[in-house]
Amino acid sequence: MPHFTEDWSTGHFPHWQRLFFELLGWDPTAPRRIVEIGVFEGRGTLWFLDHLLRHPESRITCLDTFGGGAEHLPSQTEGLEARFRANVAESGAAAKVEVLKGPSFEGLVRLLARGERADLVYVDGSHEAPDVLADLVLAWRLLPPGGVMLCDDYLWSREEAARVDILGCPKLAIDAFTNIHRRQIDFPLWGYEWQHAFERIG
Ligand SMILES: C[S@@+](CC[C@H](N)C(=O)[O-])C[C@H]1O[C@@H](n2cnc3c(N)ncnc32)[C@H](O)[C@@H]1O
Repeated sequence: MPHFTEDWSTGHFPHWQRLFFELLGWDPTAPRRIVEIGVFEGRGTLWFLDHLLRHPESRITCLDTFGGGAEHLPSQTEGLEARFRANVAESGAAAKVEVLKGPSFEGLVRLLARGERADLVYVDGSHEAPDVLADLVLAWRLLPPGGVMLCDDYLWSREEAARVDILGCPKLAIDAFTNIHRRQIDFPLWGYEWQHAFERIG
């Protein structure tokens, strides 16, 4: 059994079923390439492996510092990398998983330098607006037309001294990015308070 201490993902799974299978019509047996920014213990990674990456040549690249974000306590990240790696090993699909440990911008730059492309980028790393914006800007260049960007925690907010710190939340970055790129974006009829997905067009 995989070992998890937190669950920030299970609630998304019925929504992902609808997004990928009903709205986008993805075939789980087709070869696909996914980049997940922020993997934590691998709950999302295992779902992608199980549901979207069944083809033997499908791959996922996982970017994480394994040090947590500003919102995490040290107790949440102790032993995190080992838990993630053990969960992936236990899935039996470790050969499909590449881990780039470090800040996401470094991993994304490496992928771009290698000329990589991705069918899906899941943006769920740092929740600080400047970091989310950098992730979106770099990850966009991995997506061909038809590629999908999935953003977590659209309406998540962090309170500091009883005030919401909008610079410490993803929304501002997602809104800025989607406004600037609106001519190249299509929104599937999907999205709920926690997540937004958009498809690259043109
Ligand atoms: C909310 S968790 C990801 C949850 C995961 N997607 C899932 O499905 O369970 C956020 C992760 O982002 C990582 N992270 C935070 N800042 C980062 C950064 N600048 N670069 C890479 N990873 C980062 C943290 O270590 C943490 O594991």
